[in-house]
Amino acid sequence: KRLLLVNGPNINLLGMREKEIYGDFSLKDIVRNLASLTKQYGYTIDDFQSNHEGELIDRLQEANGQYNGIIFNPAAYTHTSIALRDVIKAIDTPVIEVHISNVHQRESFRHTSMLAPVCYGQIVGLGISGYRLAALAFIEEHIERNE
Ligand code: DQA
Repeated sequence: KRLLLVNGPNINLLGMREKEIYGDFSLKDIVRNLASLTKQYGYTIDDFQSNHEGELIDRLQEANGQYNGIIFNPAAYTHTSIALRDVIKAIDTPVIEVHISNVHQRESFRHTSMLAPVCYGQIVGLGISGYRLAALAFIEEHIERNE
């Protein structure tokens, strides 16, 4: 039972960047927090962050069939990347798109997601709880299916 956490560009700057929007948790805090949550349910979690679109695509391709679910904050690529959309579509592993901030309260260019239509679900605006809720959604869905 494994989950994968993937974060896109500038998420490595969490805790330093625009704190009024993103809060003061670091990416390390998030990873630690998720690892202890998922452990309670017998899951392990791997994490990957990149500022490069191609590296994110490579990681998602490699993840195919290896995980029960992928928790993905694609950051700014959400709004632009057809290539990320294609890889999410191409793999069988379900992806939940997570945004820390409420993108709908922000600039209009953040209102559109190229990826949401091919994702299993989307969580927006709940801060870092969004990552935890995405993990729980995969875990609970699994329990329901009795796998
Ligand atoms: C973000 C929202 C994006 O619009 C932005 O480019 C980010 C972070 C979020 O988590 O709220 O880098 O994905």
